[in-house]
Amino acid sequence: MKKIIIAVDGNSSTGKSTLAKALAKELNYVFVDSGAMYRAITLYFLRERINWNNIDEVNAALKNISLDFEYNDANGKSDMLLNDENVEAEIRDMVVSEKVSEVSTIKEVREFAVAAQQKLGTKKGIVMDGRDIGTTVFPDAELKIFVTSDPEVRVERRFKELYAKNPSINIEDVKKNLEMRDYIDSNREVSPLRKADDAIVLDNSDLTKEEQLAAALKLVKEKI
Ligand code: DC
Repeated sequence: MKKIIIAVDGNSSTGKSTLAKALAKELNYVFVDSGAMYRAITLYFLRERINWNNIDEVNAALKNISLDFEYNDANGKSDMLLNDENVEAEIRDMVVSEKVSEVSTIKEVREFAVAAQQKLGTKKGIVMDGRDIGTTVFPDAELKIFVTSDPEVRVERRFKELYAKNPSINIEDVKKNLEMRDYIDSNREVSPLRKADDAIVLDNSDLTKEEQLAAALKLVKEKI
């Protein structure tokens, strides 16, 4: 069967990763979480105390970063490797979440990440989720899905996810972080979050994961 590129974009915590992962599993495609790459870069900058307002420091730091994914047999997902170190857990921390949108506005960071993402797509058979996959990374993707859901549903989902790891988390902080990231992601100068003209909107506010997957698979079938 013809292999295609599927771009899944949308705001933070809309469930796009869940959908992209499930789609990849169902189709036996490679799943790539592009946000994890921006998170790993941010983690590196924080650890090395890089002043990301200084572009020379950014460029020098990017030269020392290598990003890879490693399949994790235990959970069937791919973990993010930063310079061969598994940083999958650390990149999900609030410390990283608080800075990742800001770091993602930097043109040089985006060029670095986009080049790495495009390389991963050369063989097709890929589902990539992010903010600019359908607009910038793979503008010719055969299928583009733009995932949306109600803001309250998103806060609740994200809170549950973080609470499982850290019960001292506060729902108001989660809400503020989502609002801040929405704002920065949608208003940055370089490839802001927006729906590609040819993307199909999938609102999953009232859908179960299974219903969301079924709706997306229907779209895939139309394309292949
Ligand atoms: O998908 P996520 O919430 O893990 O993404 C983290 C941040 O990375 C998000 O706030 C903005 C940035 N990002 C981006 O700018 N472009 C992408 N394609 C993916 C993520």
